[in-house]
Amino acid sequence: MAPLIWEKQERVKRMAEFTWYHNGKWLPQSQVKPDPNDRGVTLGDQVVDVERTFGGKGFRIEEHIDRLYKSLKHVRIEIGISPAEMIEITEEGISRNWPLLGEKSDLSITQLVTRGQSRDRAWTAGPPNVYVKFRENNLENWAHYYTEGVHGVITKVRSYEPDTIDPKVKHLSRMNMTLAELEANDVDPGAWPILSDKGGNLTEGSGYNVFIVSGEGLRTPTDRAALAGISRSMVMDLAMHLKMPCHEEDLQPYDMYTADEVFFTSTPFSILPVTQVDRRNIGDGNPGPVTQQLLAAWSDVVGMDMIGQAIHQSRAST
Ligand code: PDD
Repeated sequence: MAPLIWEKQERVKRMAEFTWYHNGKWLPQSQVKPDPNDRGVTLGDQVVDVERTFGGKGFRIEEHIDRLYKSLKHVRIEIGISPAEMIEITEEGISRNWPLLGEKSDLSITQLVTRGQSRDRAWTAGPPNVYVKFRENNLENWAHYYTEGVHGVITKVRSYEPDTIDPKVKHLSRMNMTLAELEANDVDPGAWPILSDKGGNLTEGSGYNVFIVSGEGLRTPTDRAALAGISRSMVMDLAMHLKMPCHEEDLQPYDMYTADEVFFTSTPFSILPVTQVDRRNIGDGNPGPVTQQLLAAWSDVVGMDMIGQAIHQSRAST
């Protein structure tokens, strides 16, 4: 027990307040005060992107910033900061905040852009508010999923269609996903939701993409009604490197129930094995070998043991 207590102290003892960026200034997190009249707060009128570091190095930051600027363009918010400047701000924030973390820890980074205030219509709003937030990429509650797997539930609540809010835009107006999380938990306590489009094709989860592994290799829903995840594209790159076939296609619940393996992908955890969907075992009900191979390959690329880090975080918090 004693070493675990020591580990906890070691991980948090140097954790002073993080420094966040807000409209050109670097401020202690507690001094960043969102405006309650900002349309981002009153109407969910904002876009966002989320990155992480591995061993202190930003992962695929350019791709995330490219997606952020596509989201901004789609919703017509102009911030007067170039993508190159946003990358510089992000890297500066990593340098400022990385020393606050203890060992075996990494940063989570969120760019949040709101349209700003308006008492009238959207086109009168502004100026936008730009925040870049930094915190620990804390996986203590999810570490056990790497070895035990997470459960999924295909929900009645659907994804937005591209003709409402295109799911390729990364935004936080996502009450459907909140309702899907509640529905999944009602069906199988602790399970995570898997949504579909109006045609019944699987799309994504409430913050993650989905993959299945079958005789044909890896298969994932197209991005017609799903975010084009950066972790999803990393898995596609790893699959190519490992000579595993990987296809984007329409998938139905049948494909998931009959798959050998299912996994989720997202920035905070990279890949998590899914061992049950709708209370049915996937494969033999344990994390599968392909999922584990991809996790190991990802750890190799970033030069650190991701699962070991998550397990360290969970032990340190007990
Ligand atoms: N979520 N689908 C949705 C709806 C998401 O919000 C996310 C990311 C993903 C996975 O994308 P990526 O691999 O680029 O992280 C898929 C972030 C992490 C979040 O909301 O915190």
